[in-house]
Amino acid sequence: MKKSRIAGVGHYVPDNIITNDDLTKIMDTSDEWIVERTGIKQRRWFTPGKDTVANMSAKASKMAVERAGIDMKEIDFIIFATSTPDYFAPGNGVLVQRELGLQGIGALDIRNACSGFLYGLSVADQFIKTGMYKNILLIGAEIQSSALDKSTAGRSNAVIFADGAGAAVIQVTDLENSGILSTHLHADGDYAEELYLKDPGSSREVRLSPEIINEPSFRMQMNGNVVFKHAIVRFQEVINEALATNGKTKDDLDLLVPHQANLRISQYIQQKFQLPDEKVFNNIMHYGNTTAATIPIALSEAWEQGKIQEGDLICLAAFGSGFSWASALLNW
Ligand code: UT7
Repeated sequence: MKKSRIAGVGHYVPDNIITNDDLTKIMDTSDEWIVERTGIKQRRWFTPGKDTVANMSAKASKMAVERAGIDMKEIDFIIFATSTPDYFAPGNGVLVQRELGLQGIGALDIRNACSGFLYGLSVADQFIKTGMYKNILLIGAEIQSSALDKSTAGRSNAVIFADGAGAAVIQVTDLENSGILSTHLHADGDYAEELYLKDPGSSREVRLSPEIINEPSFRMQMNGNVVFKHAIVRFQEVINEALATNGKTKDDLDLLVPHQANLRISQYIQQKFQLPDEKVFNNIMHYGNTTAATIPIALSEAWEQGKIQEGDLICLAAFGSGFSWASALLNW
């Protein structure tokens, strides 16, 4: 059986910075509330006509491929995790493929929202283990801001969700001290409507009408308290599962990179596992919650900041819409 590793990571965020103070001008909120409840100080929102999910992803992908030290033409498969595709169909995989000049190779889209990148990592790992592919481009990217209700009625979501793209090259390896050790995937559809964006849904008689555009179902809806309570339980379970599967303990970890849902969730998990600050990477303060993009953006920044070294034991964990949740344990 072959083994896979993350060989390179990259990211791109739109240059349009939205601070908490900017939000106070369009809705009834405050910097204090947002920082205290979420840890977020600013986020990036896309510029219509300039940024697309595909072109942000292409920029992140070029960075990841360069850092992996390979030529773009060596990519033999694309996995694209997003809950906010540029088109209803086809998926974003083919759009980024076209931008990167990779026509002909397979492109798969994954719609597991916040845990999409880890679902994609697991799929990539299986393809590489079986020998089917050698260099898979895995992307997590979102434009959430165009589906947010930016009035006071939508403030609890509007202050959290944001836009950005991250990418990783998942590569076959025979390095002894580097590779994905295990991935763990879970979901519970009983909670599908606790965090969802219903419209434009296909099961309506008319998918899109002027009336639907003004309904709450046309915006992301989240029962924040319920999501929060499940998140803190599932994060712990799935991190423990990854450690136990590999006979490791939390003391063996060099770095935990949690999905950046809310800084309070990350801090709660950090405290439960009694990890020191330098072993948990957070950047939600600067970027908000970019759903499928948070983990690859965080990995890319952690790597840039020298917080990840070859061989380090790293745990990735995510929870979100579905509910779906996942983890991965790997040596960098
Ligand atoms: O990535 C996918 C997974 N997502 C998550 O994991 C998110 C999980 N949930 C959360 O992060 C939190 O539930 C939120 C940050 C969304 C909300 O925080 P909360 O502490 O659960 O606040 P709340 O919704 O219970 O609201 C508390 C109060 C309410 O006022 P009243 O009813 O107590 O008077 C809200 O109306 O805060 C009010 N509020 C706000 N005030 C100022 C809600 N949003 C805002 C706001 N600014 N942006």
